[in-house]
Order: sequence, then structure tokens, then C-alpha cells
Amino acid sequence: MTPRPDAVTPPVDEPRASLVVVANRLPVQPDAEAGVNGWRPSPGGLVSALTSVLQRGNGLWIGWPGTSQHRHVPAHYEGIRLRPVPISADEYETFYLGFSNATLWPLYHDAIRPPAFHRTWWQSYARVNRRFADAVTEAAAPGATVWVHDYQLQLVPRMVRERRPDVRLGFFMHIPFPPLELFNQLPWRREIVEGLLGADLVGFQTRQSAANFSRLARRLTTADGTDALVQYEGRRVRTGAFPITADVARFAAAAQDPAVRARAKEIRQDLGDPEVILLGVDRLDYTKGIQQRAKALAELYADHSLDPEHHVMVQIAVPSRESDAHYERERHELEQVVSQVNGDYGLVGRPVIHYLHQNMPFDELVALYLAADVMLVTPFRDGMNLVAKEYVTCRTDLTGRLILSEFAGAATELRGAFIVNPHDLEGVKEAIRSAVRAGPRETRERMARLRRQTMRRDVYDWATTFLGALEST
Ligand code: F6P
Repeated sequence: MTPRPDAVTPPVDEPRASLVVVANRLPVQPDAEAGVNGWRPSPGGLVSALTSVLQRGNGLWIGWPGTSQHRHVPAHYEGIRLRPVPISADEYETFYLGFSNATLWPLYHDAIRPPAFHRTWWQSYARVNRRFADAVTEAAAPGATVWVHDYQLQLVPRMVRERRPDVRLGFFMHIPFPPLELFNQLPWRREIVEGLLGADLVGFQTRQSAANFSRLARRLTTADGTDALVQYEGRRVRTGAFPITADVARFAAAAQDPAVRARAKEIRQDLGDPEVILLGVDRLDYTKGIQQRAKALAELYADHSLDPEHHVMVQIAVPSRESDAHYERERHELEQVVSQVNGDYGLVGRPVIHYLHQNMPFDELVALYLAADVMLVTPFRDGMNLVAKEYVTCRTDLTGRLILSEFAGAATELRGAFIVNPHDLEGVKEAIRSAVRAGPRETRERMARLRRQTMRRDVYDWATTFLGALEST
């Protein structure tokens, strides 16, 4: 039976909130291991940042509980109130997998896969955005601050503004915002831009994305002004770059934990005590360039730049959006490439690529960051990429080298990395060679520079900077 969209229990008789975060997902997700009604915190730095902000401000988090099954959603998480927005099984297909992740996601990531345009998906997207907007309209106190997140909810700002002009509205886009040439493919391009223009402040990861949006707004609507500020329907809408930061305090603390450090040593031993451990940590997504990385590695073993005895790679591929055909194909192709590289260059009991298609517990992730001599972050396009910043945060002793795609938002800040164009296989190979061979002095200098760029601000600072800018609009 298809669950009804109202199959999630909403909280009753809650006072209205003066600070409201609206995101596709709640900060908790179903935990099958903890029984039918078990929940666990959703992963990611955003949850800790926004939780701290909401704890200080009578806050409420509105989001989808990550299931269309009937479940009782906890009313609170770490002292903040939760308000679930239900999504039916059909909407999971059309709103989440469909319009959000098979139309917008590829379109906003350079159309690496062809985006699919379906009117029924668009209708579902608008319907679900309306449901989120209704939840905000009901739950926000007079004059409240409302912060909407990401590409799944781009229509929400305008929908809320129409019914609650009293609230202060911010929107932050976590993924890239594409240039006009790509965005204009979208049949509903004007509606999306108008949706975002409902906010007082529209924030992006990079200045490039902010400029793309602002130019599109001026091209597709009556908005007029500059890259940083437009006038629209008698209001001022600010745009700008607010690059998200890692949960620095949490990662730095774990990196000092003796148990985690011991685990890092153990990982090195388990891998056969190689000279160099290379590491990739990604959601299994076609935007991440994981196959390219494996192919570059294969060619480096083939031309003896790398030696299977001494150079091994660990690739964590976190399962993601598995029922989408593009993701299924990506997994299939990646696993073929990995098994081919291992078949060609592995030794008995010693594969050259240790591939794990799994979620990583936090401490294990930090132990891997500590064990890795070379970190590869080579997406074809990425809003920011926090893995790069987390790795740097953990390298307190100034060891470790970072290879970073010029198409990740992080590349605008992390200039101490070996910067690569992931489409250029020769360039990726050259960067791996250089990173593997970098001496202690170059490594230390680069890492010190990376850490100066990364350790300045925590994710809590990021959230308060955005909210401060929103308050001053
Ligand atoms: O911004 C990209 C993002 O939506 C993140 O918020 C999230 O962690 C990731 O992609 C995976 O998203 P989901 O599993 O909700 O599709």
C-alpha cells in the first residue's frame, strides 16, 4: 500500500518559533538497528552547526524524516524542536529521486549526466515545496528568521513570502549554481529564480555561483541591480558567497584522541605497512570523479610510477540515491574498474585499491584521514567538498598531501593543495606523482598553508556569519 503523505505524526500545540531552519532532511534519520521507532542523528557538519544555532534561539527544524513509512518522529533533538514534513512513496520517486536528483542535481553539476525534464516531476516538486512552505507559515512566530536550505526547496522562499511578509528569509544553496547556458535548459527556469528571489538573502558556496544566480535573475525576471544586490518587486535581495566550513572542533578533537590515533596505526598495518596510503572518501556519485581516479592509478601502476608493494589506495564510496539508474550504473562501472585494477596489479592478499561501499562511522573516518598520506578529492563539479577540509583539519602534525579538483568550491580557498583538472587524466597522474614524491619540507609548507585557510573558522562561525548577514539585510 502506498503510504499517505500525512503518514508522519506532526507535533501538536507547539509555540511558534523565532528561528526556523528548513531543510529537505531533519537532523535525525530512521535507524533500523534501533528498532521500528529508532532514530539516529543524520550525518554531517551542517547538523551540528545548525543544532548549536537553534539551541540558542528557540529554534525549530522543519524537514523530511527520510522515510515514507508511518513512524513517530521525535518532537525534539538535542533540545531543538523538530517538525516533520511527510513525503509519500510516490513523491519520493517524483520529488526526491526525480526532480531534485535527476533534473536539478545533474543540471547544477555541469550536466555531467543528461538532466531529465518531466512535467509530473515538476508538479510534484512544486507540491512538496508548498507543503514545506505551509509548515513554515504555521510554525514561524511574527517577525521570525527563516533559513531555507538547498536545491530541493528553491520555491519555498517565495511561497512563504506571499503569506508571511513579516518574516526575514534566508536561503543557502549547498551545491553549485549553474551558468545561464546550462540553467536555461530548465523549462521552469523563471519559476525557480522567482522562488529564490522570495528570500532577503540568497547565499552560495562561491562568488561564481552567486554571480550566476544574480545574472540569471536580471535576465529572466524584472530584478535589476548588481551581482551583490538586486531590486525585485520593490524589495532588496542580497546575494553573496558564504563558503561552508568543516566541523573543525569535532574533527580536531577526534584527531587527537589516542584511540583514534591507535586505530590509524592499525589501519596502516592492516594495509601491509605500505610507504604511501592514498585515500578517497566520497558519496558514490557520478559527480565525484571516482572512476577517473582509479583509471589514473591503473596507468601509474602500468608505467611503474607507482609500485603495488608500496603504494595502496583506500576508496570509501558511501551508498547514495541507490534506486536512481545513473547511480546504479555508476556503481556498476566503478566496481568493474576497481576489480580490473586489482586484477591487473594486486598481489595475493594485497589489493591495490581497497574499496568499501559503506557508511563510515565518524571515528573510523578520522582514523582513515590520519592514516592517509595523500588525499584525493577530484570531483568534476562540487559545491564545496567538506572531505578536503576535514582531512586538513585532522593533519595537526603538518603531514599529508591534498590533491584537489579545481571544480570543487573548496579550491577557491585551499590554494596549498595540488590542484587538478579531473577531466585531464595526464594532469591527475602528474599530480599523484608529485604528491607521492613531495618531500617533508614541501609537504609541511603546503599543509601549513592549507591549515591557515581551513582552521580560521568553524561551521558554527559559518552559520552565524550567514545569519548575521541576514539580520542586516
Ligand atoms: O547538498 C548536497 C546534499 O543534498 C547534502 O545536503 C547531502 O548530504 C547530500 O547531498 C546527500 O543528499 P541526500 O542523501 O539527501 O540525497
